[in-house]
Amino acid sequence: MSRTIEAITKHTGAIPEKDSGAKYPTMKAIRIHNYGGPEVLNYEDAPRPEPQAGEVLVRVHAAGVNPIDWKVREGHMKDFWPHKFPLILGWDLSGVVEELGRGVSRFKIGDEVYSLPDPTRNGAYADYIVVRESELALKPNSLHHIRAAAVPLAALTAWQSLFDTAQLQPGQRLLIHAGSGGVGHLAVQLAKWKGAYVFATASTKNQDLLRKLGVDEPIDYTQQRFEEIARKIDIVLDTLGDETQERSWSVLKKGGVLVSLVQPPSEEKAKELGVRAALLGARPSGEQLSEIAKIIDSGKLAPIINRILPLSEARRAHELSQSGHTHGKITIRVSNGDGTFERKQS
Ligand SMILES: NC(=O)c1ccc[n+]([C@@H]2O[C@H](COP(=O)([O-])OP(=O)(O)OC[C@H]3O[C@@H](n4cnc5c(N)ncnc54)[C@H](OP(=O)(O)O)[C@@H]3O)[C@@H](O)[C@H]2O)c1
Repeated sequence: MSRTIEAITKHTGAIPEKDSGAKYPTMKAIRIHNYGGPEVLNYEDAPRPEPQAGEVLVRVHAAGVNPIDWKVREGHMKDFWPHKFPLILGWDLSGVVEELGRGVSRFKIGDEVYSLPDPTRNGAYADYIVVRESELALKPNSLHHIRAAAVPLAALTAWQSLFDTAQLQPGQRLLIHAGSGGVGHLAVQLAKWKGAYVFATASTKNQDLLRKLGVDEPIDYTQQRFEEIARKIDIVLDTLGDETQERSWSVLKKGGVLVSLVQPPSEEKAKELGVRAALLGARPSGEQLSEIAKIIDSGKLAPIINRILPLSEARRAHELSQSGHTHGKITIRVSNGDGTFERKQS
């Protein structure tokens, strides 16, 4: 049905309003119609999607903000992901199941869920999103939607880097770059949960945060060179690339692993040093999110929320994320939490 609405909207220029009793339901969303700066983020009406077989319609309560959102907005992913305009950004969410597509059996209407949805499709800066059943999990009971929405993408990235790719074992020594960031602060906690010895970098203002998260040896990158402190490392989590990645090879012990989230590490260099190197692309997984929810509910893992902004202030959220120096996570509040949606003040 959404294609029909797009066609009607395109033809008439009018967007059918659900509240006005029109046939086609709409919703509020942040969409882009072309690549560019934060000014291309439009708070506007969009067709409400319909779940197909194996899919679930989720009423979004909150959407997490990640650097991939502004990277997509600027067009950095255009050669890799088949996005079409208008595009809804935001691939992190917590919400409530509103409607089930054919064949969905693991969820029921009213379930409180969270997800990293497929980033090649429309995202969660919207009142509603359609998500595949396999990408959903029940959200942690102990977290409100605003906090739960901060978890999926960053936690799955940390999980898949440390456990799937690097096969982290208790007692291993780990260096996490940007331990105060969205991925880093969850990676530190997951590594400690697994029993690792953790070095992590951040600037002076975030040293206390690193200690609070459980980092064994916090490193202030503005004052110290990490390679002079972190030695004989089993696993490096590279969240920065460039010079940081280049300097990270020297801290690895033979047999160690460098996992980068941002830049393919050199295979030749890895071979020469007798280490392993990998570029990780996080993938959706409802199964792993269920595991992560259990750890959160056990009190061993908690997201830190830096800023909560309404849907209508997505531009501000992008400016903050793009600064590269926010700690923890930024989340966007979509619902007021009382069954009504957050709306732009005129
Ligand atoms: N491949 C994938 O699937 C995947 C998945 C998730 C994320 N990523 C990418 O991974 C990167 C990190 O993501 P994120 O969400 O963690 O980003 P983020 O939250 O924006 O990271 C911000 C943090 O980086 C720290 N930082 C900045 N420069 C630093 C430096 N030179 N040394 C150490 N720390 C530094 C900042 O601390 P200070 O303010 O103290 O400097 C800040 O706390 C992004 O580029 C993102 O796109 C990739």
